[in-house]
Amino acid sequence: MQPYLALLITILLLPLVLPGQPQLVPGSRGEDGLCHCVVYLTNDLIRLKELEQLQSTARELMDKYDQEFSKVANGSLTLKLLADSDQLGLCALRQEVDILKSQLRECEKQQEEASRHSGLPLPPGSCAHGGLQKVSRPFVVQLNWRGFSHKAGAWGRDSAPNPDSSLYWVAPLSEDSRYFEYYQLYKSYDDLVLMKNYKERSMGYGDGSGNTVYENFMYFNYYGTRDIAKVDLSSNTLVLQRPLPSATYNNRFSYVGVSWKDLDFAGDENGLWVLYATEESKGNLVVSRLNTSTLDVEKTWHTSQYKPAMSGAFMACGVLYALRPLSTRQEEIFYAFDTTTGREHHLSILLDKMLETLHGINYSPLDHKLYVYNDGYLVNYDLSFQTLKHRPSKLPAENLSWLPTAPKPIKPNKSSSP
Ligand SMILES: *[C@@H]1O[C@H](CO)[C@@H](O)[C@H](O)[C@H]1NC(C)=O
Ligand SMILES: *[C@@H]1O[C@H](CO)[C@@H](O)[C@H](O)[C@H]1NC(C)=O
Ligand SMILES: *[C@@H]1O[C@H](CO)[C@@H](O)[C@H](O)[C@H]1NC(C)=O
Ligand SMILES: *[C@@H]1O[C@H](CO)[C@@H](O)[C@H](O)[C@H]1NC(C)=O
Repeated sequence: MQPYLALLITILLLPLVLPGQPQLVPGSRGEDGLCHCVVYLTNDLIRLKELEQLQSTARELMDKYDQEFSKVANGSLTLKLLADSDQLGLCALRQEVDILKSQLRECEKQQEEASRHSGLPLPPGSCAHGGLQKVSRPFVVQLNWRGFSHKAGAWGRDSAPNPDSSLYWVAPLSEDSRYFEYYQLYKSYDDLVLMKNYKERSMGYGDGSGNTVYENFMYFNYYGTRDIAKVDLSSNTLVLQRPLPSATYNNRFSYVGVSWKDLDFAGDENGLWVLYATEESKGNLVVSRLNTSTLDVEKTWHTSQYKPAMSGAFMACGVLYALRPLSTRQEEIFYAFDTTTGREHHLSILLDKMLETLHGINYSPLDHKLYVYNDGYLVNYDLSFQTLKHRPSKLPAENLSWLPTAPKPIKPNKSSSP
């Protein structure tokens, strides 16, 4: 940094030394990486005294710059520098240190605010957080490719926490909001936004908008049955179809406002899940984790919430989050069920919506976003999570606080305290 500063100061000084017409000065680059120029000055233009003064001012400025710089970097070095400096210099330095200190505090405060209100930026697929905290405003991406009359459907990205996959999919249902048949695949978000480089497919029939994509397979409810269907997206082939034991189907316990979504698939950091209801559960929501290769139910959890009272649900880090409508413009995430502890709790996280009904709701562990199909529009939301209790290491700002405060003198000694 220093050579550049020196060069800059020299350039700034040149017009003073050469008050005549500006001129180009040829230069060359030396082995030290510095730019060397030779300037030929006519005698009557030289004001040597002034030049000397300016050069010494420049040197002072540079020294001060160096000192200021090391102050921020090393508190104990500052102490030594300050103790060695003369009183005038100390006063000036102290003021600047005060400014730096307050900037540092301000910066830390903002950082704390930011992490308290919006959560720390989480690495893709990370569950190092204390649960859902907040949902952003909706970001409307576009109308679905089949048009406004296809009000029901789902979209999202591959929900396996695998950073290599950037696959996006869009699956609008038929106009009667029941059948899943067509879907499109995009290799990237940019392609999706520009609606280019897509593959358009047709795949048998499914019921409702509970589809999800996990590790390059799409899972959906085979129409008119309690069957889970698994489709290989590379070849668009149905590779597995198996009934989900005891699951009700044919619009028996569907979410409020969202028909035919008897089997609601969800992918998260912990695996593939299916959310549904049974006669034994009296319509309360049941959560099962699936073995993706066999579609066997690995484990099942029973919640205390009636599925038709919810508008939808999703999983994140093994926690079920359930939504209910508050109005035509707002939803509430009102309930959470943690499958790792088996514990449930009530919460209230509001979620604005552009139109009335949220159909497909899919979470992506990669970017911690919710992909929502909102009455034909593709919308997404950023999720923020609570930070864990341990705090990030702090800058040594507190250690500058032993510096004397403004009205007080002068020579600090070891006994002075904050
Ligand atoms: C800070 O400065 C002190 C005194 O010059 C030196 O002993 C110490 O190693 C420095 N620490 C760092 C982290 O640079
Ligand atoms: C899924 O089931 C198969 C066959 O029973 C088993 O080999 C595999 O380990 C299971 N996968 C997981 C993730 O448990
Ligand atoms: C502040 O200084 C004290 C001793 O002067 C030291 O023990 C402490 O670790 C320092 N704190 C930080 C955050 O550097
Ligand atoms: C340190 O400075 C304070 C105030 O300048 C003075 O009262 C005190 O006696 C000094 N202590 C030592 C150990 O020099």
